Amino acid sequence: MKETTSPADQLDELVSVERGEIDRRIFSDQEIFDMEMKHIFGRAWLFLCHETQIPKRGDFFEAPMGSDNVLVVRQKDGSIRAFLNTCSHRGNAVCRAEEGNVRNFMCTYHGWTFGLDGELIGVPGKSIFYKDKLDLSKHPLRKVAQLDSYRGFVFATFDETAPPLEEYLGPTGRLGLDLLAERGDIEAVPGVQKFVVKTNWKFTVDNVFDYYHPQITHMSAFAVGLIPAPADDFVEGGAMTETGANLEVPFLPTDLHNVVMVGEYGHAISGPDQDSLEVTAGGREPFAWRYKPETQEKLGHHGSRVAGHPHIFPTTWVNAGGQLSLRVPRSPGVTEIWWFSFRDKNASPEEKAATLSAQIHFFGPAGLLEQEDGENWAQSTLQTRGTVSREVPQLLKMGLGTSEIVKDDGLAIIDAPINEHAQLWTYHAWREWLRNPTWEELRQRTMPGDRL
Ligand code: FES
Ligand code: FE
Repeated sequence: MKETTSPADQLDELVSVERGEIDRRIFSDQEIFDMEMKHIFGRAWLFLCHETQIPKRGDFFEAPMGSDNVLVVRQKDGSIRAFLNTCSHRGNAVCRAEEGNVRNFMCTYHGWTFGLDGELIGVPGKSIFYKDKLDLSKHPLRKVAQLDSYRGFVFATFDETAPPLEEYLGPTGRLGLDLLAERGDIEAVPGVQKFVVKTNWKFTVDNVFDYYHPQITHMSAFAVGLIPAPADDFVEGGAMTETGANLEVPFLPTDLHNVVMVGEYGHAISGPDQDSLEVTAGGREPFAWRYKPETQEKLGHHGSRVAGHPHIFPTTWVNAGGQLSLRVPRSPGVTEIWWFSFRDKNASPEEKAATLSAQIHFFGPAGLLEQEDGENWAQSTLQTRGTVSREVPQLLKMGLGTSEIVKDDGLAIIDAPINEHAQLWTYHAWREWLRNPTWEELRQRTMPGDRL
């Protein structure tokens, strides 16, 4: 990217799908970050919380929407509203807690008070200081443009022209939420795990699809048995030790297939197929998706079912173990990671405890996998800032031009051994969002096609 020109004029150079190359500056440039906040986070439907987190009147949950924070509040009539957590007087946060139950929100600066619906209902000294000339009805908390739920998962957008939530999610986006919803009569486990990684948010997103890294990054997880060791038929080598000896990599089955499904607006699912799972994880039937029979036929023995990670663009992904993660951009080099865990209300206390224990040992601040990932993301982000280092492109070439593409209900399904299609798809969509097109143009440009 030429540094004298605006990033908006260089989007094709920043992300070249054809070459499978990404300009490193998209991970550190403040101007690009500001464009992301406006054109992506200012328009997309963003996950806020699950309805079971705010069951009673007056329950609230503070959620991020890009660089803004909103209060999601259960209303007197049982509906849900969301509005910015910033006072309409002089901007102070009207709520300092992350969640709880209130009768109203009183700003701690001068005492302006807002009802559960965000309307301004109290101003100290209204008649003395304002001579009764302040029209309270003109100064509510700023509401989101649209709010809706899909199977109990609450989303909102700041864009009143955004398509309806269900349409935005499409089949690819809905699949992940269906997977969680169908675990039973689900509820969110109280408390959201939150931690900070010094990385750009996009590293934490593209890694969702990366099945190339576990055998190296998560070697210790295999060593301690957190990830079940496979039993037979593996690729050897592929990495060298410091002394030059060949390092055996014992957990890549030779027939591993990573099936990718992509949908409009940038949503994608990537994960190993059932045959691979049977080898790598002893079979994880409950986590697998099923395609239509015709598609299964086209995919042959590889693709009858796929498990793995569904991602709702831009920053929400589902772990098939019953969790949902938000990647919250706070600055070009700082991302908060939030983990929501779900359980079946009707499970026994022992089952609930076992599920939660498994979840927190994989991901989150106590999760072995994500701590290992976080080290890589932080280092990768750091290397995007070097004056010379940032000239070196990121590569996403694996599987480019060599994978088979089939279709199922408009989804492109790419059947290939471990590949980087879903990452490339995500950056392709990212580039199209930054062009700030109309919703219809954006949908057209991110329709699954044969381009990957
Ligand atoms: Fe909230 Fe003044 S800033 S009452
Ligand atoms: Fe990982």
